[in-house]
Amino acid sequence: MNKEQTRLFIGRPNMTVLHLSDPHLFADRGSTLLGVNTNESLMAVLEDIDNRNIRPDLIVVTGDISQDYTPESYQNFIQYLSRYNKPVFSLAGNHDERPKLKQYLSTSLFSTAEQLITEHWQMLMLNSHVPGKVHGEVNQDELAWLEKCLDENNDLPTMVFTHHHPVPVGSMWLDKIGIENGQQLVELLSQYPQVQMCAFGHVHQSSAIEHKTVDYRSVPSTCVQFKKHSKDFSASAEKPGYNIYHCRKNGQIEVESFRVDDYLPSVNLAISGY
Ligand SMILES: [Fe+2]
Repeated sequence: MNKEQTRLFIGRPNMTVLHLSDPHLFADRGSTLLGVNTNESLMAVLEDIDNRNIRPDLIVVTGDISQDYTPESYQNFIQYLSRYNKPVFSLAGNHDERPKLKQYLSTSLFSTAEQLITEHWQMLMLNSHVPGKVHGEVNQDELAWLEKCLDENNDLPTMVFTHHHPVPVGSMWLDKIGIENGQQLVELLSQYPQVQMCAFGHVHQSSAIEHKTVDYRSVPSTCVQFKKHSKDFSASAEKPGYNIYHCRKNGQIEVESFRVDDYLPSVNLAISGY
């Protein structure tokens, strides 16, 4: 698949990025995942962002946007995220079909461009989706593209976004369905000192691991959470959340990770899979 590059003018030295992931939306706004109404919990997240007066310059959503693969679920997503009137960059998770995601989310403010360049930063949306599979992989073409972007823009601090986790998060069942060749990706990123962060979703929990100069960081899902350090599948009653990255023009990133204040998800903890 051809890669798309886009340029974005932020207009100030510091940039605020809102990172959301795994909304698992349905066409039917009453539908639930593990007991949680995913439309409702995304709304609660957006209200929490408003309540804290957070004004992102752009939004990145790292996959699992649709749970039922319907055009209506993506339309719901567009309707909810349009409120910011800011660019929204999306990539595919294991619960999305990449061609459909590109078809539905390439309109006006919504983009599926893989390379985003601002005045001070480069952001790369790396595909880890393997059609029909739950685990991830970054194939050789994808790695070659990544290397080319990093070589061509070695003067720009860079953030890499992907769906699956390239590094283990300490839950045995989840660590079997991360990026299969994650080690190869980590080794590549560690050769480029301009890479500041690799941020991802899929694990429905927050985590942060430093390797060489790169901050590997996950974001909570906007719906149901998975229990940390669990051997087998296990949902958690934790609240949905989101990450904010304050990106300075000198390449420094200040991270804030939030959970919603005024919402309690009705998680069905008895379900043993999803
Ligand atoms: Fe997910």
